[in-house]
Amino acid sequence: MTINVLFVCLGNICRSPMAEAVFRQLVDEAGLSDKFHIDSAGTGNWHVGEKAHHGTRAILKEHGIAYNGRARQVTLQDVANPQTYIITMDQSNGNDLRRTFGSHPNQYRLLDFSSQQAEGDVPDPYYTNNFENVYRLVTDGCRGLLETIRQREGL
Ligand code: 4NP
Repeated sequence: MTINVLFVCLGNICRSPMAEAVFRQLVDEAGLSDKFHIDSAGTGNWHVGEKAHHGTRAILKEHGIAYNGRARQVTLQDVANPQTYIITMDQSNGNDLRRTFGSHPNQYRLLDFSSQQAEGDVPDPYYTNNFENVYRLVTDGCRGLLETIRQREGL
């Protein structure tokens, strides 16, 4: 059985592509790639078809992580499977999804899985330009997320 994980932010150019790439790398390192389908999407459609923001691409490259995805918007199909892990970057992404598609039984904020008493939202680097801080938060959240999924799914 494939475990679906969808990371969601607003534009799908900064935070959720970073989370997708980092999580995929962690899954690869754990030798679990064949168990997962990992993707990302945005609640908004402004950047559909675009490459990730140069700040996201730069920090991923700095950490030796490849990413070639293009932005897309969340679809009904993305959230149709109640088993899919829907992982949002902030409270407003969660509210937007609930407003558009109704509540999903397996939807969380990424930093719910953080090891720190981190703030609950991954701040938007589109406005802060602080991609380094976002990388730290995203990596911490992704580690916790993978640990939780491994326990829950018996991997
Ligand atoms: P993201 O950042 O949600 O992390 O991809 C943003 C990207 C674009 C916009 C907002 C946030 N925008 O308003 O265009």
